[in-house]
Amino acid sequence: MSTNKLCIGLFGFGVVGKGLYDVLHSTTTLQASINKICIKNIDKKRSLAATHFTDNADTLLDDENINVIVELIDDADAAFIIIKKALQSGKAVVSANKKMIAEHFEELYTLQQKHKTPFLYEAACCASMPIIRNLEEYYDNDLLQSFRGIINGSTNFILTKIFQEQVQFNEALLLAKQLGFAESNPILDIGGFDAANKLSILLAHSFGIIATTDKFIFNGITNISLQDATVAKEKKYSIKLVANAQKLANRKLVAFVLPQFVTEADDLYQVQNEFNAITTESSFADKHFFKGKGAGAFPTASAVLSDISALRYDYKYEYKKIAHKTDTQLSNDYYLKVFVSVDAIEKIDKNHFEWIEEWHNVFHYSWLIGVVHAEKLFKLDWWKQQGVSLIVCPDAVIENIDYKKICKRSLELAGVV
Ligand SMILES: NC(=O)c1ccc[n+]([C@@H]2O[C@H](COP(=O)([O-])OP(=O)(O)OC[C@H]3O[C@@H](n4cnc5c(N)ncnc54)[C@H](OP(=O)(O)O)[C@@H]3O)[C@@H](O)[C@H]2O)c1
Repeated sequence: MSTNKLCIGLFGFGVVGKGLYDVLHSTTTLQASINKICIKNIDKKRSLAATHFTDNADTLLDDENINVIVELIDDADAAFIIIKKALQSGKAVVSANKKMIAEHFEELYTLQQKHKTPFLYEAACCASMPIIRNLEEYYDNDLLQSFRGIINGSTNFILTKIFQEQVQFNEALLLAKQLGFAESNPILDIGGFDAANKLSILLAHSFGIIATTDKFIFNGITNISLQDATVAKEKKYSIKLVANAQKLANRKLVAFVLPQFVTEADDLYQVQNEFNAITTESSFADKHFFKGKGAGAFPTASAVLSDISALRYDYKYEYKKIAHKTDTQLSNDYYLKVFVSVDAIEKIDKNHFEWIEEWHNVFHYSWLIGVVHAEKLFKLDWWKQQGVSLIVCPDAVIENIDYKKICKRSLELAGVV
């Protein structure tokens, strides 16, 4: 690959695909050209002549002059078929499709091992912020303990608008869509699926764990209300959708994506709009803080371009953490301190909680702060139903509650029937 010119077959000419086309044409140093672009709807009006486009995937996949497939489409199932065929036929692949990668990680990993073809996807996690290559390469020699961060640009944009400008949820979502930050199907963002897909990918590159999103707890921001935002403000918190991966003392790994109260002292507090950020913690290096634009045409295209450029020096993910096989395993055997608000008191069952620390009951809006076992959140979904909002407290993970049982207070004492 290093001596050859990169001849690209591009799939998708939407927000990111067109962004890549523009970025590539203003980058003079990279010896790469786009041979053909495959899109879905051939009759759509485009900014380029019709001769650039086809709606036949095989025109690109069977073209022997094309040695790189760049896949930037919004259909995960079609993308998997395209990428599978490209890898099998020895073409290098660059993708930004987190849904497809998270859903098919194991098969894609096996295909790469078998065909020895590079498959790079930095843009799939945190867009412009180069976190995959850092987790993959830099922390190889270090003892990574945790990473925690904001990994979905559009929900962070929406939460920023709600908090700072008191914009209504739907209006903020529309704005995120108009600016090209949201997925074509926005439920992927606001339902937490997109962040969960990214966490799934990051777990493989950081801790060598291959886990689809049904193996850990996640939720989005759809149930967060303006009243929750008011409570957060009173407590001098912000609300962020936070992904967390953290080793426990017993080599078990906590992993979840949940809305979280973030204090002013937290690095994530000042991360606004479509920005993403991740804090890593490792045994000798202590903390690192990464921040960058996590959505949008050019930030995402810049990561795609960086992957294309890396193909010139034959860069491949080595999946070192998977290869090294440690005994670290995902676990739900830990406790979380959470804020739960409800529009009707019957929606809370005291048996879900180890103990309750605060309880406020106002007409049509009650809330509590209590401690739950993560396995109970994983197995039950009362906390995801409409009218219930669960937000993780700062420093929420409690590994062992034995020493805390002494301060346990029951719901009955708090006045709940
Ligand atoms: N937008 C962002 O900020 C962002 C950030 C990071 C990652 N991503 C990822 O990047 C990818 C593209 O996102 P986007 O925002 O650019 O989406 P988009 O604006 O909706 O564009 C999607 C493109 O895919 C094409 N397409 C859909 N199905 C196809 C198929 N079967 N064969 C060929 N082309 C097909 C569409 O063709 P038509 O033009 O004919 O409709 C369109 O050009 C997604 O995987 C997304 O998750 C996006």
